[in-house]
Amino acid sequence: MRIGVLTGGGDCPGLNAVIRAVVRKGIEVYGHEVIGFRDGWRGPMQGLVQPLGLADVEHILPLGGTILRTSRTNPYRDGGAEQVKRTLAEHDVDALIAIGGEDTLGVASRLNDDGIAVVGVPKTIDNDLSATDYTFGFDTAVHIATEAIDRLRTTAESHHRVAVVEVMGRNAGWIALHSGMAGGANVILMPERPFAVDRVCQWVLRCLGRESAAIVVVAEGTVPQGGAELLAAAEVDAFGHKRLGGVGIWLADEIARRTGAESRAVVLGHIQRGGTPTAYDRVLATRFGVHALDAVHEGDTGVMVALRGTDIIRVKLTEATATVKTVPWERHAEAEVFFG
Ligand code: F6P
Repeated sequence: MRIGVLTGGGDCPGLNAVIRAVVRKGIEVYGHEVIGFRDGWRGPMQGLVQPLGLADVEHILPLGGTILRTSRTNPYRDGGAEQVKRTLAEHDVDALIAIGGEDTLGVASRLNDDGIAVVGVPKTIDNDLSATDYTFGFDTAVHIATEAIDRLRTTAESHHRVAVVEVMGRNAGWIALHSGMAGGANVILMPERPFAVDRVCQWVLRCLGRESAAIVVVAEGTVPQGGAELLAAAEVDAFGHKRLGGVGIWLADEIARRTGAESRAVVLGHIQRGGTPTAYDRVLATRFGVHALDAVHEGDTGVMVALRGTDIIRVKLTEATATVKTVPWERHAEAEVFFG
């Protein structure tokens, strides 16, 4: 068999671990051939191929980013779905492994319906794919954000300040929830629950009455009650997503204005997506790669590999992209015990 691999959408730590696992198992265990497509869906649209032999994946396990590079190309918007089919046929590709989030896997699902054999692998630091308990990249992002909170706490304490930490999370507050809980944040704000600025100020003041610093963690997609998302740029990407950013700076100013407490905002941004994956993400990504390859080998396509408990299972690609996994009320309530 000849198997194609691509990475699409925003990068995240662990992509190279999946590529390595696919290549190692594909070549060494089954004797298949593996080729890479570069730059997400742009690769099969424009015929951008990259050989993937055993030597190409040596030493890439701990590397962040993706050796195949990525893009947010949408073949269905750019009229390239037919071209994808032609490229795969030209390169005698029997099946494709698409590693991506909601958008990349949405394209994979449509291509599968259009007759291309595709297996999906879920990735995103946002951890917002409902069919899998966890996506790789999330654990690394949470570690980075937690370390940042720990560091911000010591400087905020020295200056009697409020530190507002803006983390990623477009539709779901998983990174905010986990890093905020791990870092002992005094307020955690998520896209699932619009917040009242006055309530946030009450928590901040209560905390400052006891301690010399208050830490507020806010996900980038969070909106104040009656307000709208804050945007970093006006343009939208090929999947219609706005570029979020700015709620942290806005909130720090509001807190300072309403409470008189000196406040600073820090936007962690892409730092959360860079660098080496944690051990957990390396293992999860490797297991996903191995199981995706098995699915392709068995001809079980139109599926995504997913984590349920400690098992890797297969779910239909249509199910994989049906709903966004948001933070449920009970998880928010657990965190709220520690607010203020
Ligand atoms: O989907 C992952 C993510 O990191 C989001 O949390 C964030 O809103 C977005 O990607 C940023 O995208 P870009 O890398 O295109 O700025």
